[in-house]
Amino acid sequence: MYNLKIITSTTREGRKGTSIAAWITERAKQVENFNVELLDLAQLNLPLMDEPNHPRLQQYQHEHTKKWSETINSADGFIIVLAEYNYSFPAPIKNAIDYLFNEWKYKPVGLVSYGGVSAGLRASQMIKQVLTAVSMMPLAEQVAIPFFPKFINDEEQFVPDEMIGNSAGIMLHQLEKWMAALKPMRAQ
Ligand SMILES: Cc1cc2nc3c(=O)[nH]c(=O)nc-3n(C[C@H](O)[C@H](O)[C@H](O)COP(=O)(O)O)c2cc1C
Repeated sequence: MYNLKIITSTTREGRKGTSIAAWITERAKQVENFNVELLDLAQLNLPLMDEPNHPRLQQYQHEHTKKWSETINSADGFIIVLAEYNYSFPAPIKNAIDYLFNEWKYKPVGLVSYGGVSAGLRASQMIKQVLTAVSMMPLAEQVAIPFFPKFINDEEQFVPDEMIGNSAGIMLHQLEKWMAALKPMRAQ
């Protein structure tokens, strides 16, 4: 079994990312080998990075960091449900990444991005630079959702079309392959 953690990127009141996160969480649970947990940054409520030492040292002073470290340490891979704010990634996800260092290392990450005409792809490209700085492996296969509100119904449920559904299947398959490939690397 692989521990897959799905992380939201936005925290604002009335955000839409929760519908997309709920959908990809349910979809990921259909994969036999995945133990899936949704990590909602709004619920987690991390302050702006307030640790006195570089995360590489793992000398964490705050309870919220120790807890976040434990959670991320136990993961074999991630999905980030990524919004695009001003052509880039939203600040809460950058903050959550910056808290830690070794805990992310040699773990694959799939992106589920959403936005207007850009489908969150500008944010995706920008966050890949950050992800590789902490030695995560961002997958080429991703789910990109353009004009996402048209897939959210009156019950706030995200209902994908065939193309989006298929791309989720492909990404999850690749994620499993990378999880299997990178696990031995972390054990070395
Ligand atoms: C501060 C801000 C900046 C935004 N910038 C972009 C953008 O650059 N590209 C885009 O496609 N949508 C942009 N949007 C629209 C978002 O795609 C839309 O509001 C989406 O719901 C944001 O995700 P959230 O609801 O989970 O916060 C922006 C929204 C906000 C609040």
